[in-house]
Amino acid sequence: MMGTVILGTGSSLPKRIMTNKDLEVIVDTDDEWIFSRTGIRNRRIGGAGEKTHQIAADAGRKALEMAGILPEELDLVVVGTISSHMLMPSCACFVQKELGAVNAFAYDINAACSGFIYGMDMADKYIRSENQKKILVIGAETLSGRLNWKDRNTCILFGDGAGAAVFGHSNDSTRGVVGSNLHSDGRLWRLLHMHTAPSTNPDLEVPDNPGAHIIMEGREVFKYAVKAMEDSVCALLKQENISMDSIKLFIPHQANIRILKNLLERLQFPEEKVFVNVSDYGNTSAASVPIALDEANRQGLFARGDTILLCSFGGGFTWGASLIKW
Ligand code: ACO
Repeated sequence: MMGTVILGTGSSLPKRIMTNKDLEVIVDTDDEWIFSRTGIRNRRIGGAGEKTHQIAADAGRKALEMAGILPEELDLVVVGTISSHMLMPSCACFVQKELGAVNAFAYDINAACSGFIYGMDMADKYIRSENQKKILVIGAETLSGRLNWKDRNTCILFGDGAGAAVFGHSNDSTRGVVGSNLHSDGRLWRLLHMHTAPSTNPDLEVPDNPGAHIIMEGREVFKYAVKAMEDSVCALLKQENISMDSIKLFIPHQANIRILKNLLERLQFPEEKVFVNVSDYGNTSAASVPIALDEANRQGLFARGDTILLCSFGGGFTWGASLIKW
């Protein structure tokens, strides 16, 4: 039996750092409130040359470099994003162009913060069914362009960034993606959503369209996020018959520290085995899990044969968990 392995990881963060102090002059907030409620101190904000596809391509380039693979060898480029600078073409097509991945086909996934985990599951299924594929999966966002900078409930939470992983096959069946447990619930869309530009067909226009920025019911999102991630992690471990103790590193979506602490408490999972970087980058949506995966990988926090648990939750709602045997 063949396995789907990660051959390389990469990440890319815009240069500009926005601190909580910087936010104090934009909205009525303060560093103490933000840090105590979210665990966030800094976030990155994209500038010239740092559009979503540009940081996505940069992360992808680094992942390819680590994998020792040329862009021409890629069969597929998938980007999880909700903040590309255009609706068409896809962010993935722009990434393909930037990288020169001329033999790949390319498309985006809109699963908000769960974009990378959904993409990873898709890459695993392609590789298992079609054998020789090499697939680049990226999560990339510049949500700084999709925030209402007058809304202190949301604009303090998010940041820009990109993370990537190159997937390929291995004949060693003891390694690779073990499995995933993915969910969506569109009935709850209202709790976290973003409109598009107004429709030019008046019959299809949404009344009072506030524009393309994030709207959120924070407390409700908090409750659903903790419960949903807990349920999918437990279901996945049961499905794959893997014990909590055998996990070397848990890389959850970096939404905010209170969500993470609640989740760990409910799972009774030890904090020292969890990778956390939310203080530096805020919530980077689809990019959060692959940035964390890349940082943990480059810091040597896991080795061949270790079991890594990923999980995420985002607008849709979408959520899920994945297990990798490195
Ligand atoms: N600075 C200062 N005060 C603020 C700010 C701010 N930035 N934002 C809100 N407040 C005020 C509110 O106006 C309110 O004041 P009031 O009591 O006078 O009305 C007070 O603080 C408490 O507001 P709450 O919304 O009840 O604060 P809460 O403790 O719930 O924290 C937060 C808000 C941090 C958004 C929390 O609900 C949360 O973490 N939710 C999850 C949201 C999230 O992570 N979303 C990301 C997308 S989904 C995902 O990735 C999982």
